[in-house]
Amino acid sequence: MSENHPDRNLALELVRVTEAAAVAASRWVGRGDKNAADGAAVDAMRRMIATVQMDGIVVIGEGEKDEAPMLFNGERIGDGSPTAVDIAVDPLEGTTLTAKGQPNALCVIALSERGTMFDPGPCVYMEKMAGSADIADLLSLEEPVEHVLDRVARRRRVDVNDLMVVILDRPRHAEQIARIRAHGARIRLITDGDVAGALMAVWPDTGIDLLWGIGGTPEGVLAAAAIKATGGQIIGRMTPRDDDERARTIAFGIDPERILTANDLVRGNNCFFAATGVTDGDILRGVRVTADSITTQSLVMRSLSGTVRVVEGRQRRSTTRL
Ligand code: FBP
Repeated sequence: MSENHPDRNLALELVRVTEAAAVAASRWVGRGDKNAADGAAVDAMRRMIATVQMDGIVVIGEGEKDEAPMLFNGERIGDGSPTAVDIAVDPLEGTTLTAKGQPNALCVIALSERGTMFDPGPCVYMEKMAGSADIADLLSLEEPVEHVLDRVARRRRVDVNDLMVVILDRPRHAEQIARIRAHGARIRLITDGDVAGALMAVWPDTGIDLLWGIGGTPEGVLAAAAIKATGGQIIGRMTPRDDDERARTIAFGIDPERILTANDLVRGNNCFFAATGVTDGDILRGVRVTADSITTQSLVMRSLSGTVRVVEGRQRRSTTRL
């Protein structure tokens, strides 16, 4: 990709795709219908993505977990131009957040050179830990979480009880939540949206030090694409739900015990990430609509250059499909 287009930042084209999806999804904020919100985002994303100059293959769609109407794995997208790429999409990350009008719903896409994106096969969930560049080397899913917290506190020259860990609020996390609390650290529980959670862990000044938890594998790959541009780290380990899924994971060629890093989840160093806020969040504002205009806020990232942009887009309402 870089040989043909040395200076091309595809993420700047991709942001039009996430903007379109966010505007479409925003019409469903708070209306209690997560499937309609997701469907609107998928349709808008699909329409806009067809115009991007690339020969893309969807490696990460979302389909399997909730049978959402996603861009499906293996689908070819883009206008077919020679830049051969892998694509990961989450047209609406936080369908329930959107349906309930809650914070941090995002439309997300990531792209990397063909053959470089981790394909989780049958594995729906992954245990993850993420943190920013200054603590990237301290993360661990194999050591007790207390040790990680101690090291992070020491490195940041704070007390453990100054730390804040963002965790999806799920019964499967009860034991680890109890341990983290008993050790003195604080926890921000989120109902959904661990891509936003991972971004908060690597973004300056969010008050979040770490993300931990078992969440979607697709979301882990998407977060890795973003985190690579920041110099932070995300580590992950597949978490099969039962023996059958474990057997299928192994048959697919994935060692479920292996700890994967951001560089395993997205190999190579030329990946692109774009996300647009649907509802207001910790990093991005949601879509704003007035009589005349529609305003979006997006993140645009490229790992090769470590470029991180926050892009505000304003469109004339009369020319925008709502
Ligand atoms: P949706 O957008 O598909 O609703 O997923 C949101 C999400 O919260 C992700 O951010 C997270 O990785 C995953 O679902 C967690 O899965 P589950 O809700 O099954 O625990």
